[in-house]
This record gives sequence, structure tokens and C-alpha cells, in this order.
Amino acid sequence: MSEEIKNSEAQGAQPERKKRIFSAIQPSGTITLGNYVGALRNWVKLQDDYDCIFAVADLHAITVRQDPKAFRRNILEAYALFLACGIDTEKSIFFLQSHVHTHAELAWLLNCYTQFGELSRMTQFKDKSTKHADNVNAGLFTYPTLMAADILLYQADLVPIGADQKQHLELARNIADRFNGIYGRTFTVPDGYIPKVGARIKSLQDPTKKMSKSDENANAWVAILDKPETIMKKFKRAVTDSEAKVCVGEGKDGINNLIGIMSAVTGKTDEQITAEFEGKGYGDFKVAVAEAVIEEVRPIQERFDKLIADKAYLEEQYRRSAELATKISQRTLDKAMKKIGYVAR
Ligand code: TYM
Repeated sequence: MSEEIKNSEAQGAQPERKKRIFSAIQPSGTITLGNYVGALRNWVKLQDDYDCIFAVADLHAITVRQDPKAFRRNILEAYALFLACGIDTEKSIFFLQSHVHTHAELAWLLNCYTQFGELSRMTQFKDKSTKHADNVNAGLFTYPTLMAADILLYQADLVPIGADQKQHLELARNIADRFNGIYGRTFTVPDGYIPKVGARIKSLQDPTKKMSKSDENANAWVAILDKPETIMKKFKRAVTDSEAKVCVGEGKDGINNLIGIMSAVTGKTDEQITAEFEGKGYGDFKVAVAEAVIEEVRPIQERFDKLIADKAYLEEQYRRSAELATKISQRTLDKAMKKIGYVAR
């Protein structure tokens, strides 16, 4: 306990309320090293110091067409994998978004406080509507309002995300500000919480792009559940430059990315890594990065295998968390509806 809190308790004051965190990840089948380093791993660390609420964003996932059987499996696997990574339901609330009805309801309300022009500017919408040109559905367009609802329902102070979600968070802040401006303080305006290391893990095949599970080239990403030999193969094939010097530099996107991954996984600084590999070639370095990643994911994979075999345990966890999440979020939804002018239930 910090000195400050001890002193205030001795004087009869309440200890300060922990800040609230909300974040979510889509269950897209492949949880990548980018998701892990950019998001999940930070969630695990934050659990002791913050009041944390996390979700598997399964409502978001149907903006692209899903095969029902594979979708159900992916949702459960994502849930089990996050527990395996260290999300602890004794410390945090961790639920499936589709189990908590308030998300879809607040999203509708917020749609009416979000401008067409704002949503049109979202770069992820532009990217995805080009990629899935045959299915540019309204959900893909209004997806950021659902994300805003996720966050605002819990009055979150902080939202841990990778750099790619910054624009969506900014929109959530604008919506909260707008609503508060019209009706008086209803929602906490959240801040982003973007990690210094690993905020933007890049593709192993085109290191100018983020590592993304939707990349068609499977060598571009590493999945947390990839087998050790697959991880090794993918790192060995990683695109680099012709300088053959392990150091951070301009025009060295591939090596910069590998150093970033090494740093995120081992906790070593760029300088320590550069010193360690002085005089060594890229081949040695790629193998070392792969080995470090394999060591990081090995215990997670072992825990995952046990958890995914225990469906009753998983059910108990997501049910209990959904009940708690419903209770908290219902309060915010009721408050927002009352301010808009709806008749109380
Ligand atoms: P999603 O599922 O695409 O990604 C989940 C989290 O992983 C981060 N991330 C990365 N970080 C570093 N490098 C990468 N290459 C990389 N790829 C992904 C993302 O920034 C994100 O933090 N809309 C969100 C999910 C969501 C959400 C929310 C997040 C729904 N509701 C409310 C925060 C708060 C999404 O599609 O993330």
C-alpha cells in the first residue's frame, strides 16, 4: 500500500477508488502476436492496479460474414485463450459481449448522436470496405459506435488499445463529450492507454503494415497458438533489409519490427539487443527472436489446452462475469435513457 493511501486511511478518509479499465478483442480465430503484445499482455498486467472489465467482442465480429460453427468455436477459444494468458475472473470481469444486452441497446442510442461524416472518416472502415467490397454492410460502418457503447457503458477511465484503434477511441470521446454537452454529465470521457513497446507490431512479410490476422499470407503473422516449428519458420522467412546490421534505423522496417518484438517479449531495451547482436547476422537474430517468442507462448499454450477441454468451467466464468457486467452497464443505460426523455421501465 502506498504511503499516501495509508496516511489518508489513518485520517479516516476513504482509499481512492481504483480507475476503471475497459477493453475488448474480436474473436477472429487467430489471436496474433500483435494482439498479445499490443493488448492482451497489458490487460493481464493492469489487473492488479485497476478495476478491469474485458470482453470478447463477438458482436463486432459479424461485420464480416462468419460460418456459424467456426464462429462459435472461435468465441470459446478466444475466451479460453485469454484466460490462459492470465485474465483472472477473480480480479476482473471478463464476458462475452453478446451476453450483455446493454451493448447493442446503447449502440443504437449513440448512433443517433454520431454523424455520417465522422464515421466516413474512419480509416478502418475505408480499408475494410475495400477489402470486403461485396459486403459493405451498415454494421461495418457503424461499428465504432458499438465500440463507443462498450466503453461508455462502464464509465471507463482508461482503454488499453494498440495504435490502430486510436481513431475509434477518439470518436468514442467525441460522442461522450457531445452527449454530455447536450444532457449534462452522463458518460466518463475515456483516455487511451497505448503501450510504449509493441503498440504496432508489424507484418513479417510487409513491415510497413500492421500484423493482422486478416492478412492472406499466413507468413505475415504469428498466432499465439502456432506450433513452435511454425513460429520458427515464420520468423526465418521474415522480410529484412540488405544491410545485415542488427540495429534500429530508417528504412529498416523489418529489423525495427523484429527488435520491437524482441524488446516486448524479453523486456530488453533496443540498445541492449543491439549490443548483444553486434557482429552477428540477421539469420542468428531471427532465430533468437523466434526462440524468445516460443518461450513466451509455451506456458500459455499448455494452459489453453487444459481450459478448452473444460467447457463447464468456461461457462461458469463467462456467465458470472456477464451478470456483473449487466448490472453495471444497466445503470449507465438507464441514466442515458432517462436523460434523453424515455419513460422509466
Ligand atoms: P482487434 O480485435 O482488431 O484487436 C484487439 C486489440 O489488439 C490490438 N492490436 C495490435 N496491437 C499492436 N500491434 C498489432 N499489430 C495489433 N493488432 C491488433 C488492437 O489495437 C486492439 O487493442 N474494435 C476492436 C475491439 C473492441 C474494443 C472495444 C477495443 C471492441 N470494443 C472497446 C477497446 C474498447 C478491435 O477490432 O480490436
